[in-house]
Amino acid sequence: MNVKLRVWRQRNANSHGTFETYEAHDINPNMSFLEMLDVVNDDLTKRGEDPIAFDHDCREGICGMCSCVINGEPHGPEYKVATCQTYMRSFEDGETITVEPFRAKAFPLIKDLVVDRTAFDRIMSAGGFISTVTGSAPDGNAIPVPKQDSDLAMDAAACIGCGACVAACKNASAMLFVAAKVSHLNILPQGKPEKDKRALAMVEQMDKEGFGACTVTGSCEAVCPKAIRLSFISKLNRDYFSAMLKS
Ligand code: SF4
Ligand code: FES
Repeated sequence: MNVKLRVWRQRNANSHGTFETYEAHDINPNMSFLEMLDVVNDDLTKRGEDPIAFDHDCREGICGMCSCVINGEPHGPEYKVATCQTYMRSFEDGETITVEPFRAKAFPLIKDLVVDRTAFDRIMSAGGFISTVTGSAPDGNAIPVPKQDSDLAMDAAACIGCGACVAACKNASAMLFVAAKVSHLNILPQGKPEKDKRALAMVEQMDKEGFGACTVTGSCEAVCPKAIRLSFISKLNRDYFSAMLKS
């Protein structure tokens, strides 16, 4: 395949960014989108030019590091797929593909396609954990958990913290991420003692970081590579208001 790329290039947060055009020739359709960028970067490096900075780590759809917007969609055209698992066969031969960073005030740009998503880490530090007395491992099944609760908690725990939900939202809201992270602990018995404290602290930190409010447009759910459902936002709202009333 041959494709033309329009890539956002920006030296740092304070400099002016612009789209630059690159040609990618003889691309194997079975390459991932990131492997195609590797080929383009090899070429740029050989020519003595600055390679395109982009985030990645596992390249298996599990770490949440890959993060660009492809043709206007966070993680590109495929449903329930992260950028690293998007393959070139999803595009047309000869297509012009536009690649941009996630754009949100709470995700300041570092360089080119790389943004700083440590706001998510600070939300996790505010309450995304359980405090428990450590000791020997408890016996398996010592705490009975209904199957439907464990399934629901696992669905929420699938969130990889990529931030695509924020990038897709016109308000740059982080509600889907926070809802998943609060819910996967609040649903289980081990998470219940700190349920109220967790919901209040994580929502408060989300607001402090400058994420917008949720107006339930559903764009977050549409782009989420792990299919986190909007219903988790309803659950977070219930947990939050109940905690607020108690406090
Ligand atoms: S909810 Fe989905 S889109 Fe948002 S951070 Fe988690 S995995 Fe990414
Ligand atoms: S590089 Fe890890 S999810 Fe894409």
